Amino acid sequence: MTHHINFKGEKTVPVEENQTILQASLAAGIPHYHACGGKGQCTTCRVLVLEGQDKLTPPTSYERTIKKVKQFPDNVRLACQAQVTGEGVEVQRLIRDETDRFILIDDTEENRRSVMGERRKLALFFIDIRNFTPFIEESLPFDVIHIMRRIFALFKNAITQYDGEIIDTAGDGLYAVFGLNSKIKQATESAVLAGLKILSDLTIFNNTYMRPYFNHTFEVGIGVHVGKVVVGNVGIGLSHNLTVMGFPVNIAARLQASTKELNNSFVISAVAYRLLRNPPYAVGCDYLNLKGVSTPYEVKMIGKPYEVKEGAVLPKAIQR
Ligand code: FES
Repeated sequence: MTHHINFKGEKTVPVEENQTILQASLAAGIPHYHACGGKGQCTTCRVLVLEGQDKLTPPTSYERTIKKVKQFPDNVRLACQAQVTGEGVEVQRLIRDETDRFILIDDTEENRRSVMGERRKLALFFIDIRNFTPFIEESLPFDVIHIMRRIFALFKNAITQYDGEIIDTAGDGLYAVFGLNSKIKQATESAVLAGLKILSDLTIFNNTYMRPYFNHTFEVGIGVHVGKVVVGNVGIGLSHNLTVMGFPVNIAARLQASTKELNNSFVISAVAYRLLRNPPYAVGCDYLNLKGVSTPYEVKMIGKPYEVKEGAVLPKAIQR
């Protein structure tokens, strides 16, 4: 029996009973990479299944093994292993030229995670140090970097303790996600616990280190939101390649920025707050106007009011 398979952006080709996707594409003249000759050993023939996943034969033992090692999502199949059992299958070749090959056949540890890109529901966490610029102005460069490292180590410690992953740092802030290895409720819980731990660790750090040695204290602003985002690995050889993108990321960043105007160190969207099993006491609730959102956005405030107003003149730091 003859079925058909559509190669997105290329052409629809016939595929015979017991013929693999690779055999069908090669027979139709598609330049389909197959470095190991279709023996299920190189993964260069892999395709992303866009439609009709149930119209393919189940993954072979080689596919199951390779999937575990490389963490391919379920909708990625080896064309030399999968056969078509019905109509309505659409696929996209993933390695179409030498540059694709270079990017995707990189076996380093960092590139094994989510290299294809997938849509995931995650808890998104933004944190920023308040009033850091005056400290930079008044301190030795060595002290600025040293203190940054201390504070970022404190952030990282809390985030990793609750199974979060730092995605990016920018100036005196960073962006992390929770939920790469857990469900969204657990992820939201973890993001909030990490935030609360940072607030409490920072108080200790201020009291035991910053105040005695620098006559200065720091505060932070934290924003947490949840939503579906695109997770992928840009794989350009940097040590950390994971990228998380999508509109919910912008909202989380905006919530972090709103900590200033709301005068509260931890702002969480009401959507995320409702996912918490044991939500912390919210001292307030407000509605923010967000770019791209037609109705005011409900948020909860679960931190503390700031001690130092943004832009206030700070005591001169003790320079070592
Ligand atoms: S051609 Fe090598 S795994 Fe399919």
